[in-house]
Amino acid sequence: MNNLLVVGAGGHGKVVADAAGETGQWDQIAFLDDGYPASSSARQERPVLGKVNQAPEFLDQYPDIIVAVGDNFLRVQLLRYFAKAGFNLAVIVHPAAFASKEAVLEPGSVLFAQTAVNAGAKVGFGGIINTGATVDHDCVLDEGVHLSPGVHLGGTVRVGKYSWLGIGASVIHQLVIGENVIIGAGAAVISNIEDNVTAVGVPARVIKKKRIPEQKGCPA
Ligand SMILES: CC(C)(COP(=O)(O)OP(=O)(O)OC[C@H]1O[C@@H](n2cnc3c(N)ncnc32)[C@H](O)[C@@H]1OP(=O)(O)O)[C@@H](O)C(=O)NCCC(=O)NCCS
Repeated sequence: MNNLLVVGAGGHGKVVADAAGETGQWDQIAFLDDGYPASSSARQERPVLGKVNQAPEFLDQYPDIIVAVGDNFLRVQLLRYFAKAGFNLAVIVHPAAFASKEAVLEPGSVLFAQTAVNAGAKVGFGGIINTGATVDHDCVLDEGVHLSPGVHLGGTVRVGKYSWLGIGASVIHQLVIGENVIIGAGAAVISNIEDNVTAVGVPARVIKKKRIPEQKGCPA
């Protein structure tokens, strides 16, 4: 058994730590958060040990790490930094999630309760499959993708890096959603979506272009 550091003690971090705890894979789970020491009292159930740049001090005691930061681009950069620093990047699958043995979950990805990732699908580096989201067969999610709660992807959908699909969005089979895309809450995506846009509605239509990656993801 090992100990796990969760980077980011916000709401998302709380759910990540809880999912990790439910797996029983880790003896101790603790946070790093730049709000330290003020954030220590907010997460009484698990300790906040220090700020994010103090991670190397805890490597021996906490060799496993997961980044629970909602910004998709930043999450991926932090994961790369921690891998270089010698940490093992965890994959967290809540025991009430289903991940096919024929699916690939890349390092740093998390699957929350009531999610399903079906055969032949890939969740890329640092991916978030949030509560109740489903990823059907042969979907490919590039690095840093976040599917919010209740998102549903039909089979063989591709989602480009750092894209964020809002709560309850659905995507029909075989579509391609580009990089750095935001899909609004409740959208029904029925045609391909180009890179660097926001699309909303039923059916989904582009309403904004040229987003920057660092602004993406729900706040952790
Ligand atoms: C898509 C979203 C990011 C848009 O944010 P934004 O770029 O700030 O856009 P705005 O709020 O300025 O809205 C622009 C227009 O799109 C409309 N719009 C925004 N989100 C919409 C949605 N989900 N569905 C339909 N229309 C939407 C607005 O009503 C507005 O229309 P108007 O120009 O006619 O007034 C946001 O509304 C959204 O859906 N976020 C998802 C949140 C979520 O899933 N959270 C869970 C996190 S785990």
